Amino acid sequence: MAEKTDARKFYPIAEPDIGELEIEYVTDAVRSGWVSSLGRYVEEFERGFADFCHTRHAVSTANGTVALHLTLAALGIGPGDEVIVPTLTFIATASAVIYAGATPVFVDSEPQTWCLDPAAVERAITPRTRAIIPVHLYGHPADMDPILDSASRHNLIVIEDAAESHGATYKGRMTGGLGSAGIFSFYGNKLITSGEGGMIVTNDSALAERANFLHDHAMRPETRYYHSEIGYNYRITNLQAALGLAQLRRAPELIARKRQIMNWYREFLGEREDLKLNPSMPWAESSFWMVCALLPSRIDPASMMTELRASGIDSRPFFKPLHTLPPTRKYDNGGRFPIAEDLSRRGLSFPCGVKLTRQDVEFICSTIKRVLDNQTSRA
Ligand SMILES: Cc1ncc(COP(=O)(O)O)c(C=O)c1O
Repeated sequence: MAEKTDARKFYPIAEPDIGELEIEYVTDAVRSGWVSSLGRYVEEFERGFADFCHTRHAVSTANGTVALHLTLAALGIGPGDEVIVPTLTFIATASAVIYAGATPVFVDSEPQTWCLDPAAVERAITPRTRAIIPVHLYGHPADMDPILDSASRHNLIVIEDAAESHGATYKGRMTGGLGSAGIFSFYGNKLITSGEGGMIVTNDSALAERANFLHDHAMRPETRYYHSEIGYNYRITNLQAALGLAQLRRAPELIARKRQIMNWYREFLGEREDLKLNPSMPWAESSFWMVCALLPSRIDPASMMTELRASGIDSRPFFKPLHTLPPTRKYDNGGRFPIAEDLSRRGLSFPCGVKLTRQDVEFICSTIKRVLDNQTSRA
């Protein structure tokens, strides 16, 4: 929430809520001496997270990026394979595909969800396509049914990038558990954090077993130091899992608070026709990981961010479409991505840490309105 800067409050974009339970579990993990990747918290975090997502299995990892890479590796996706990803996402979605040696194929977003456009997915499928990675952007679920339908007609794997959508539901079902596998991130700005950390969830026992094997140097505990292939060290630590488990126990409270914060933003900004807040489709319950708004085209988001910062309010631009970035633009096959480009150009995220109070949000919103009016009068 608020921290003092120059005798004024400063509102960061996101901040975790570390409570007594987190301190108790992490202290216990430290005291136990199990500080690396063995220890009871790793197992409990995995079990608890699988239950949370209503999946049979969960495999913990060092972060969300490697969770995605490990899933692709465990599924045998590699050179010669194409993987469909939205162009509007955090770069890790594509990095993991590139680590695996496969080719990311970018697809445009839908204006109503800001996520992968199912019709564009269908058009992007080729004989080399092996998988689709929908991203539940900023906590709002992608429209999964048509994506799953395309996947089953073309015999493709669907891996949900649920790094930002802890607790979000699609037609009443938890995101992460809708495709062949789902991955999560527990970075410090996420709804559930373990500092750094990630998780793969799946109902596929063979996939879970293979991911488990590969994430510990492809070594089976019963045949110590016998490695049948090159694996990875992608393990989470017991300390991180202790923090993650405490947060997971508080998940219903943290999710409810995020939704409350979004409701306060809607209450204080809802009347502004020049701000379009997060999507909220009738079939979805977003986790509202980030509180976002699309600005009118005439407003320069960078200038708005500078003015907000001067008033003690942190903000972030949207992700840059991956087909425009130096390491990934070579994967652009001349596609058109007008929706992703427009969202990226006009989008801003505002402070949304779970410790914000109604008063904080009221203050932030009145500042946003003032700054927007200033910017509009200058535009
Ligand atoms: C959509 C998306 N995918 C993957 C990741 C990667 O997660 P991590 O930072 O834990 O590696 C992130 C991280 O924020 C993300 O937003």
